[in-house]
Amino acid sequence: MRDVSANTRPSGSPTQTYDSAFLKACRREPVPHTPVWFMRQAGRSLPEYLKVREGVPMLESCMRPDLVTEITLQPVRRHKVDAAIYFSDIVVPLKAIGVDLDIKPGVGPVVAEPIRRREDLARLRDLTPDDVAYVTEAIGMLTGELGATPLIGFAGAPFTLASYLVEGGPSRNHENTKALMYGDPELWADLLDRLADITAAFLKVQIEAGASAVQLFDSWVGALSPADYRRSVMPASTKVFDAVAGYGVPRIHFGVGTGELLGLMGEAGADVVGVDWRVPLDEAARRVGPGKALQGNLDPAVLFAPREAVEEQTRRVLDAASGLEGHVFNLGHGVLPTTDPDALTRLVEHVHTRTAR
Ligand code: CP3
Repeated sequence: MRDVSANTRPSGSPTQTYDSAFLKACRREPVPHTPVWFMRQAGRSLPEYLKVREGVPMLESCMRPDLVTEITLQPVRRHKVDAAIYFSDIVVPLKAIGVDLDIKPGVGPVVAEPIRRREDLARLRDLTPDDVAYVTEAIGMLTGELGATPLIGFAGAPFTLASYLVEGGPSRNHENTKALMYGDPELWADLLDRLADITAAFLKVQIEAGASAVQLFDSWVGALSPADYRRSVMPASTKVFDAVAGYGVPRIHFGVGTGELLGLMGEAGADVVGVDWRVPLDEAARRVGPGKALQGNLDPAVLFAPREAVEEQTRRVLDAASGLEGHVFNLGHGVLPTTDPDALTRLVEHVHTRTAR
């Protein structure tokens, strides 16, 4: 296994990208300024996004390399963020292996036939690079356009994917998911293990095509206690991280409401732990322990406050981060759809200026 903090450049990654502030912060090396990017930066808050997406369903747009490239580049051009995130969705690999699902506007992923019985597992076959040839093509186009700006690949973590598959769509309480987890632990473990293999294969495709870092989104895992996380989720997430460890690209791990899970989420194999806005970064660092960078954690709703208030809350985040080994500035969750894009552009500039060394 390769230590991302070791000063060895993965073959194929251009030196300028390797030396970017974002990748340095992930490796806990000194940075010229604190790097910034935003979860969900590519998307609905941008008028240029709404324009290119007009009349194109979400999943179709994820399969068109020209659109993926354009949408991924839009926030980099507009906000001067330090990293791009590949435009896709966590359910894309499931769609690619033939799961009947759609992304409904204003709702999220909806699965036609939920997975709840052992025989349903047969619908989750392995993912091959040919299933997602458009991803390889789009990343090839993107790395050419991005120059020194790193591209973050991503996938949904096994628990969060399972929650959509078992519930059949978005869920507040995850009751069917938990019923399966507690009621049939063997089937649950097999389901998460299947999803770990699919997720690992999908991340490998992105890294081999040129992604410089990967983020595993376990958005809804904050619904679990630490004991349940350790027993029922961590083995599958660890399997994903282990599968891509050899590439030497930073692995980011993020979930919402995961204050009590931060230590375990780091232990699962992350190099960078994402933190939502509920836990200050200095306290998060104590929970995560040494040897990992942190990412976060301005409350996305703060961007609706006046400029001075945004700056004040940003200062609190930066102050809490001042003693960290490595800090990537981000929001505590994705950009909210009605956010003023100019507030994001100002925030990037503000963080860069305040942290210039
Ligand atoms: O971060 C980025 O800018 C890259 C693109 C990205 C999308 N989805 C595009 C998208 C990423 C990283 C995701 C990840 C994702 N998808 C997660 C994990 C991140 C998180 O927010 O916790 C989750 C849970 C999903 C599932 C999903 N897909 C949801 C909850 C929704 C929103 C439903 C809605 O419309 O309110 C989607 C749809 C989706 N994914 C959109 C975008 C831009 C909106 C679709 C549209 O514009 O029509």
